[in-house]
Amino acid sequence: MKRAWIGLTAVVASAGLLAACATTDTASKTPAQYVEDRQKLMKAHGENWKGVQDGAKAGNWQQVATNADAMANNAKQMPGLFPPGSMTEKSKAKPEIWQRKAEFDAAAKKMETESVRLAGTARGGNAQATGDIIKDFGRNTCGNCHTPFRVPPPRS
Ligand code: HEC
Repeated sequence: MKRAWIGLTAVVASAGLLAACATTDTASKTPAQYVEDRQKLMKAHGENWKGVQDGAKAGNWQQVATNADAMANNAKQMPGLFPPGSMTEKSKAKPEIWQRKAEFDAAAKKMETESVRLAGTARGGNAQATGDIIKDFGRNTCGNCHTPFRVPPPRS
């Protein structure tokens, strides 16, 4: 009985080792899972951006700040959701992401810093400064990344 137990442990241990090898680098999730995760994140991100715009219209600076915080958090996750090879035909990611990864990561960083700036002015109740940031926000953040790195959605 004892021998069998040891044998089993060895099998489990080597299975663990194999799993460990497979999870190093980028292969812990399948490309399809990465695509699903980042599209889900982007959808939530779009909701947060809408929350900012609606909040600003209503003069609800707390709502603007909360959604800007969420966008800053989303932005931090963006680079990690695009590991090399994480492509499927459902994805609108352009190959340029992996050819110019530093630029892509910089666009995510800009998304983060602009969101933090926006949260700051909103939290301070500074309507003028907040409005000024929002005016160019879509172009400076979403567009700054979508234009070079995302296949445009079909016009409707
Ligand atoms: C750092 C780059 C980057 C930034 C910044 C960025 N996006 Fe994206 N976004 C992408 C990429 C790349 C895709 C395509 C992902 C895919 O299909 O694999 C995408 C897809 C989307 C989608 C489609 C999701 C789906 O269901 O397929 C929406 C909506 C979206 N982005 C909204 C936004 C909004 C709103 C902003 C700004 C507030 C923004 N994104 C900022 C890179 C970015």
